[in-house]
Amino acid sequence: MIGLKDKYQSYFKIGAAVNTKTIETHADLIKKHFNSITCENDTKFGSIQRHKDNFNFTKADKIVQFARDNKIAMRGHTFTWHNQTPDWVFENVDKNGLLDNLKTHMSILGKRYEQDFYCWDVVNEAIEDKSDLYYRKSPWTEIIGEDFMDYAFRFAREILPNTDLYYNDYNEVEIPKRDKIYEVVKSMKDRGIPIDGVGLQCHWSIYHPSLDLIKSAFEKYSKLGLKLQITEMDVSVFAHDNLDKLEKPSEKILELQAKVYGDVFAIFREYKDIIDNVTLWGVADDATWLDDFPVLKRKNWPLLFDEQHQPKEALLRIMDF
Ligand code: GLA
Repeated sequence: MIGLKDKYQSYFKIGAAVNTKTIETHADLIKKHFNSITCENDTKFGSIQRHKDNFNFTKADKIVQFARDNKIAMRGHTFTWHNQTPDWVFENVDKNGLLDNLKTHMSILGKRYEQDFYCWDVVNEAIEDKSDLYYRKSPWTEIIGEDFMDYAFRFAREILPNTDLYYNDYNEVEIPKRDKIYEVVKSMKDRGIPIDGVGLQCHWSIYHPSLDLIKSAFEKYSKLGLKLQITEMDVSVFAHDNLDKLEKPSEKILELQAKVYGDVFAIFREYKDIIDNVTLWGVADDATWLDDFPVLKRKNWPLLFDEQHQPKEALLRIMDF
């Protein structure tokens, strides 16, 4: 079997989220099938600068070295988020103090991997899912203001003039979130804020979203005139509100999952001119964050390779075109 990345050579990069463990336990799969990786946690604010001015690059360096050794591209994830950001960042600071904390963090982290990371999620998940609000309330909006994204993207461009800068979010095909993301990003672009693309996380399930929702979202986002990336894809075997456990997935479930992967990759291929990277949030079913979300210690099987690292029907389906 040829590598997934080779099959998609003329379409887009194929990525996976990794950590310092999986670059060892899943090294063979990563090297054969993926030509892009994202640090699952190790380049988040709290991992890099848990305490002020005390930067820890040990884990990120290991992953970057693995990427260098194997000539794998890297996505940076993420400079600004309301989660996994230590409290000190927001404590005892006014607007300028917080902007200083952000800029220092972005400069030191961004510059260190400037040659390695070809794009960065500059802001993650800043748009509100429900209600009429556009921006999620967070210390970023409360201390800096709703224009905190403008600052973050301007800093990013100043620090990393040759890196693609992304806004990244989930519930990306849902209405009204889809339209809010579209409008916020469009307004940034129209106002000359340096943004190169939108990252669509795509944490989906075998039941949702529908192909119609997915198609209309791509149709809409394609009008932005920016690049698109699928940044965190997985396809849970459970419906969103189902908290039951399963011993193992039935043939029927795996077939449904294969169909979802097959159908959505066909849509991704249609948009290959603007899609730059399709990244899965993990490599194989033995290591997935969905084993602990939304139910702790509930096994899930959302990826393209099974727990024994063998290709699933889903993988065969996206290779079959
Ligand atoms: C979000 C974040 C990711 C990761 C996933 C779950 O989507 O962007 O960094 O934390 O949740 O693992």
